Amino acid sequence: TTLVGLVGWRGMVGSVLMDRMVAERDFDLIEPLFFSTSNAGGTAPAQAKNETRLQDAYDIEQLKRCEIIITAQGGDYTSEVYPKLRAAGWSGHWIDAASTLRMAQDAVIVLDPVNMPVIKDALSKGGKDWIGGNCTVSCMLMGVGALYKAGLVEWMSTQTYQAASGGGAQHMRELLTQYGTLNAEVKALLDDPKSAILEIDRKIIAKQRNLSAGEVANFGVPLGGSLIPWIDKDLGNGQSKEEWKGMAETNKILGQGEGFGTAAIPVDGFCVRVGAMRCHSQALTFKLKKDVPLADIEALIAADNAWVKVVPNTREATLQDLTPVAVTGTMTIPVGRLRKLAMGPDYLGAFTIGDQLLWGAAEPLRRMLRILIE
Ligand code: HSE
Repeated sequence: TTLVGLVGWRGMVGSVLMDRMVAERDFDLIEPLFFSTSNAGGTAPAQAKNETRLQDAYDIEQLKRCEIIITAQGGDYTSEVYPKLRAAGWSGHWIDAASTLRMAQDAVIVLDPVNMPVIKDALSKGGKDWIGGNCTVSCMLMGVGALYKAGLVEWMSTQTYQAASGGGAQHMRELLTQYGTLNAEVKALLDDPKSAILEIDRKIIAKQRNLSAGEVANFGVPLGGSLIPWIDKDLGNGQSKEEWKGMAETNKILGQGEGFGTAAIPVDGFCVRVGAMRCHSQALTFKLKKDVPLADIEALIAADNAWVKVVPNTREATLQDLTPVAVTGTMTIPVGRLRKLAMGPDYLGAFTIGDQLLWGAAEPLRRMLRILIE
């Protein structure tokens, strides 16, 4: 069986990846070799078979033994280890959750329900680098990829509502700590139904503006009871890096635009951090190339893959099925609020949600592993 190196399996994305690999019995098909950046020589997890000791994740010789390496260790690890490994002559498959290599010429952004033809084409040409996409982009394409595949999209604008988990585990903890601090600040007033709401409001805003440095260490400002309309680096041109990824990665996943000799489809909008835990939501505006009946659009989206679910555009169905709370921990990608917008019959609105750790991170990686070993 194939020797598969696993790096970063203990972190948040890595743990979700491990859970999914266990659930889908991926370990039945491979010989895992577990690596660690901090505990080499320690005992590998229960999924280990013959290789029961943790290997040093910086040991190029041990890494070189693997036919496939899957890493969720993060971008710094990739930057440090990947070039050394290739320079040492390793020609195995590198499957990576980090963004470091995503836009590299020879790397494919993997999301096989959407871009299996792109993956197959790269495989036939000897491709070796398989990189998970940005979570927001992957979840969006799992929902509305059908419209792109059908060649219907002239452009798309997205307004995102991104969860704390996109920042990392510490960010999720910080959000909850902030909620707790704010609740504690007004607990007595909340318990008294006759208390004045504006007094509660006054105390809350005073507390939000005076959170300790430790309570905003990760987000920089309060997120609980607020929002942050900037995610990732400032590119200096008015765009955040997260917003830039929307167009760059969507096109690359689809095998479109620069590098493929075709015009890129414009994708742009605003990326916003909100106080959700681990589901990224987005409101989408499409300019379609032609007027397609709404029923046909719904049918197209619903038939695209096994996980997308069209949610009827009613209040009741939306509240039931189209919230981060409804979607968290599931593989379902609901697409709802589908309707033609007031701008004209070529303008389509939609709202979609995805678990940022599942389709947004772990799942495309383990599916790529399956494609390589089956
Ligand atoms: N950049 C994303 C976020 C993480 O901050 O939500 C997933 O790529």
